[in-house]
Amino acid sequence: MKMRNFGKLGIQGSAFGLGCMRFNGPMVDGKRIVDEEKAIKLIRTAIDGGVTYLDTAYVYLDRTSEIIVGKALQDGYREKVTIATKLPDSYVKEPTDMDRILNEELGKLQTDHIDFYLAHGLNKKKWEFFKEMGLPEAFKRWKEEGKIRYACFSFHGPYEEFEYILNDYDWDMTQIQYNYMDIENQAGTRGLKLAGEKGIPVVIMEGLLGGRLANAPENVQAVYDAFPEKRSAVEWAERWLLNQPEIACVLSGVNEFEQLEENLKIFDSAEAGCMTEEELKLIDDVREAYKARTKVGCTGCRYCMPCPNGVDIPRIFSAWNEASLYNIAPENNWGWNDVKRNDATPDHCVECGACEAACPQSLNIIEFLKQAGEALK
Ligand SMILES: NC(=O)c1ccc[n+]([C@@H]2O[C@H](COP(=O)([O-])OP(=O)(O)OC[C@H]3O[C@@H](n4cnc5c(N)ncnc54)[C@H](OP(=O)(O)O)[C@@H]3O)[C@@H](O)[C@H]2O)c1
Repeated sequence: MKMRNFGKLGIQGSAFGLGCMRFNGPMVDGKRIVDEEKAIKLIRTAIDGGVTYLDTAYVYLDRTSEIIVGKALQDGYREKVTIATKLPDSYVKEPTDMDRILNEELGKLQTDHIDFYLAHGLNKKKWEFFKEMGLPEAFKRWKEEGKIRYACFSFHGPYEEFEYILNDYDWDMTQIQYNYMDIENQAGTRGLKLAGEKGIPVVIMEGLLGGRLANAPENVQAVYDAFPEKRSAVEWAERWLLNQPEIACVLSGVNEFEQLEENLKIFDSAEAGCMTEEELKLIDDVREAYKARTKVGCTGCRYCMPCPNGVDIPRIFSAWNEASLYNIAPENNWGWNDVKRNDATPDHCVECGACEAACPQSLNIIEFLKQAGEALK
């Protein structure tokens, strides 16, 4: 397993960080019951294979992920790894809740300290809330008490908010969603570079877009096939990340031993600077092949909203594009499921045309809504 530098922290960790959010198991009465024995075996196999970084969170797997990690780290495994876990804003109503949650997490993880403690899924609003709750002071005190080693945050939001949060506190590490399709989305490449300039190590989540980049659709596979060097779509995606020196660790949330084995091999062979110019061009071509699958060029500006009949036009178009880009079935399409839950589906459209008059892209929204409704039903 290749080890990588964690920027200004002066420590090293494994290139592959095991994400502990995706362990699965059978559905019982509509609820997924994690196969704990398998999950523990996966964690220990990963550690035996050289993984030194585990990522979990208070809320993962119905709040059982930390318990499973805690069990897996018995018998001498705790000493071999660093643990990253997270503080969720949704469970914090007053400042004392933060201490209560941290203590609960230490208990579940069966450890006396957490290495990387992250404010979970920050955007600007959540960061302001955490500041009001006194999180910066609490981070300092927890470090002094030896309960945490590093004060960190994971991020989901626009770049401007990432820049604001990154510059607003002396962070030890940040975790961002990043992959070759998200270079201009969320923190994006700009965010990665900014953290790199400040010496703040960056841990990557959703490097395979939650698995969506693992199975290339036909036109994307054709681009890979035309390239002389043969690698799987997963390997290309992970190598593209590991090529970038600002990245300290790439998380992958495997739930099968075959995936774990493949990832252990990939992360043992790739390092910063490993991609040639031709290979980087290949990934640019792959990105373009995905983008060519876009159904509608909606930018999500929301000028068309609110629709007088409650149709969530931008959300529908984004769900339709997602479905087409990554071959996502309607039942697994979160955006579309939200639209349905909110009763904001295309069939409420009465073709009044108010949206088309407001659209700066001059999109034929009424026609596109019909097509989206057909494709997503
Ligand atoms: N802080 C946050 O807000 C946040 C948000 C998201 C994630 N995370 C953390 O980041 C971790 C990584 O994110 P992620 O799980 O979304 O990572 P990811 O690497 O983008 O996706 C993981 C999925 O990719 C597929 N996969 C992985 N290795 C594969 C292989 N060798 N071959 C084929 N498919 C493979 C599997 O999907 P299938 O099961 O479909 O095959 C797996 O569940 C999470 O586990 C979690 O710990 C944090």
